[in-house]
Amino acid sequence: MESSQAPQIDLDRIREQYDRSPYPRIPLENSPKADYNQLFIHNMVTPYYLRYQRVVDTQDKLILDVGCGSGYKSLQLAEANPGAKIVGIDLSPLSIDLAKQRLAHHGFENAEFHAMSVDDIPQLGMTFDYINCDELLYILPNPSAGLHVMKSVLKPQGLLRTNLHSAYQRQGYHRSQALFQMLGLTEKNPGEEEVGIVIETMKALKDNVSLKAQNWRPQYEAPNREETILMNHLLLGDKDLPLPRCCNAARNGSGVCQYGQLAAVGSQRSIQRCRGSPCLYRPEPARCVT
Ligand SMILES: C[S@@+](CC[C@H](N)C(=O)[O-])C[C@H]1O[C@@H](n2cnc3c(N)ncnc32)[C@H](O)[C@@H]1O
Repeated sequence: MESSQAPQIDLDRIREQYDRSPYPRIPLENSPKADYNQLFIHNMVTPYYLRYQRVVDTQDKLILDVGCGSGYKSLQLAEANPGAKIVGIDLSPLSIDLAKQRLAHHGFENAEFHAMSVDDIPQLGMTFDYINCDELLYILPNPSAGLHVMKSVLKPQGLLRTNLHSAYQRQGYHRSQALFQMLGLTEKNPGEEEVGIVIETMKALKDNVSLKAQNWRPQYEAPNREETILMNHLLLGDKDLPLPRCCNAARNGSGVCQYGQLAAVGSQRSIQRCRGSPCLYRPEPARCVT
């Protein structure tokens, strides 16, 4: 799976970026218990039912959250799958510390977290019933290789849920990433100063300039919106894929979807919209709509 832009960023820089700015910045005490939509998205019962027409008991199931960040999705997985054990991995030790604290705070004492790269997951010596991989594939140097590693630690009937970035949905952000890269804002890991320059640049543009019209909201200028700008306008290693290539990534990139092990049911637009992908929701023969 190739990418159309995004210079390759080495792992040390990615680690440094997320150590500096763990994602997401959701307070540890926040609970997703009343967020039924997110709990639905993160339960493993529905995709198992769609794939195997049986209701799975989540008790003692092993769930891996790959690139778990500060652990909010891990917490959602824990709440949505009673009795399951959550294992999280992330490149950033600081994010892993926060994830540990978060799950402990909410009473999930048996969760475990490891600071490691996707490539090293097999070193855990575990296989998983369900793997969640949110907001990571598109920043990996080689997303297909990442999928292969995850497949290698899935149990035979295991399911993997992930997402990619769509080239069309993200094209505005990729234009602004290119601009800010040219301005040198990503030569070092961007932080507060670079975020400030993005805000000033966008404010200086007339409202009808497409870069601003498509990619900017006045609320990005508010305090505490640094994360939104870092994850979009200044995101390191961001790659996009046009829809047909998203489908190929799901079908062939990992080589698992045909066999029912890649559940391309992510909450993002890219794969979900593709009627041609043989994903859980559309198991008919491959046919791209674009
Ligand atoms: C945008 S955050 C997503 C966090 C979380 N999955 C979520 O959706 O809330 C991406 C995370 O992937 C981690 N990451 C990036 N490259 C990685 C790699 N090669 N191996 C493991 N984790 C990685 C980063 O440290 C960061 O915490």
